[in-house]
Amino acid sequence: KEEFVKDVVEDVLQKEGEYGKTNIGDGIPVIVEFSSPNIAKPFHIGHIRSTVIGNSIYKIYDAMGYKVTRINHLGDYGTQFGKMIVAYRRWGNEEDVKREPIKTLLHYYTKFHVEAEKDPTLEDEARATFTRLEHGEPETMLWQWFRDESLKEFTRVYDMLGISYDSYAGESFYSDKMPAIVEELKKKNLLVESKGAMIVDLEPYGLTPAPILKSDGSTLYITRDLACAKYRKDTYNFYKNIYVVASQQNLHFQQLKKILELMGYEWAKDIIHVPFGLVSLEDGTMSTREGRVVFLEDVLNRAIAETRDIIREKGVATDNIEETAKQVGVGAVVFNELSNNRIKDYVFSWDKVLDFNGETGPYVQYTYARSASILRNAGEEAVSKARGTINPSYITGESAYALAKLVYKLPEVVIEAGEKYEPSIVTRHIVDIAQAFNRFYHDEHILVDNEEERSAKLALVIAAKTAIKNGLALLGMEAPERM
Ligand code: ARG
Repeated sequence: KEEFVKDVVEDVLQKEGEYGKTNIGDGIPVIVEFSSPNIAKPFHIGHIRSTVIGNSIYKIYDAMGYKVTRINHLGDYGTQFGKMIVAYRRWGNEEDVKREPIKTLLHYYTKFHVEAEKDPTLEDEARATFTRLEHGEPETMLWQWFRDESLKEFTRVYDMLGISYDSYAGESFYSDKMPAIVEELKKKNLLVESKGAMIVDLEPYGLTPAPILKSDGSTLYITRDLACAKYRKDTYNFYKNIYVVASQQNLHFQQLKKILELMGYEWAKDIIHVPFGLVSLEDGTMSTREGRVVFLEDVLNRAIAETRDIIREKGVATDNIEETAKQVGVGAVVFNELSNNRIKDYVFSWDKVLDFNGETGPYVQYTYARSASILRNAGEEAVSKARGTINPSYITGESAYALAKLVYKLPEVVIEAGEKYEPSIVTRHIVDIAQAFNRFYHDEHILVDNEEERSAKLALVIAAKTAIKNGLALLGMEAPERM
């Protein structure tokens, strides 16, 4: 036991920020595609799932030593943009779009559908506009502007969450790469005609047919994804191409994978769809169509505001309430998101998210801040002694040993989470560490007079603190020193 706890503590103290990382990935390229919202559409609470789960999977693969490319496959292509451009030209106003891009564009889009009921020629105009857009004609400027304005809004949320990307190559990026993929499908005898459209028949594989070209020759979502997968293989030579996308798209990804396989690509097996269930709100499912949209940005801001109130109420010591409220508020939402097995549907509940005593983000962060406060109280000299050689016989008691064991397991847990594409495995483990830490803190007197004993115990505190911080980082969360 003594040797074990000594090894663990020394290892963590020596590796610090690197503790939990391994190099089983050995620099091999992996793609994690996540978030991928549609431009000019609300960035709502439902998008939290792909965004936060995907970011954590990226962090986990990064910690495993893979060379990860983060891609935001924006939904920035399709006939709806023809409609939006027509609507903007008729009823639009530049100032309104600038002030509130997504809400305004959405409003035009809705108006288009209302008006098109009365005047069906609008639909033809939209189609023609989209065709011109596809050919890079003046419409492109407007589309580019819608895209930029939408991205500004998305980026505000990504910044709050501390998320960034290596590439925003979305659907439109593949428009000039589609003819080649269609040609290839033809050559490989995979395209058949069906009611004027071109499809790949997947019936022999128990899947519904995949439409590749509409009767007017325009491409579809899956056509873009085929071109995209091939482009990614050519560009990044990925070992795994991971798509963090809702389980509603299971069929789409089965079709995609099967078609690539039929095209003879052995790497089709490396197309990994990581699905997840639905999030709903306590007052019923959120739905874009019924206009009951809850914006993700509003949720994060509310979490920050409520956390600020709780902090004030509790009168806890922090240097900077604003900064702490942001770390804890946003962290609470992120942690909650990553607490459940991703495939499970879950109900978003404010009480649960911000419960400082439950198995929540605030609880873990609070435990972290407590460990930081112990070190502050101990003083710099004592801490630096603890970083020297320790006598492990003082940290083999039941709760100390249990804590050391959990800290020891972090690197294994990260690998397991990566292999299962399941960040909740990390989340659960950090809760375990936090609970074990609190038990240790409760059972043992840490800042004792005996210097040897104090040093050993402080060393274990530093190790646990480090493990919690590194674990939280893998979820995309910060660790506040005071709370
Ligand atoms: N934009 C799509 C949506 O909001 C998700 C894109 C998923 N990624 C992909 N490569 N198909 O539903």
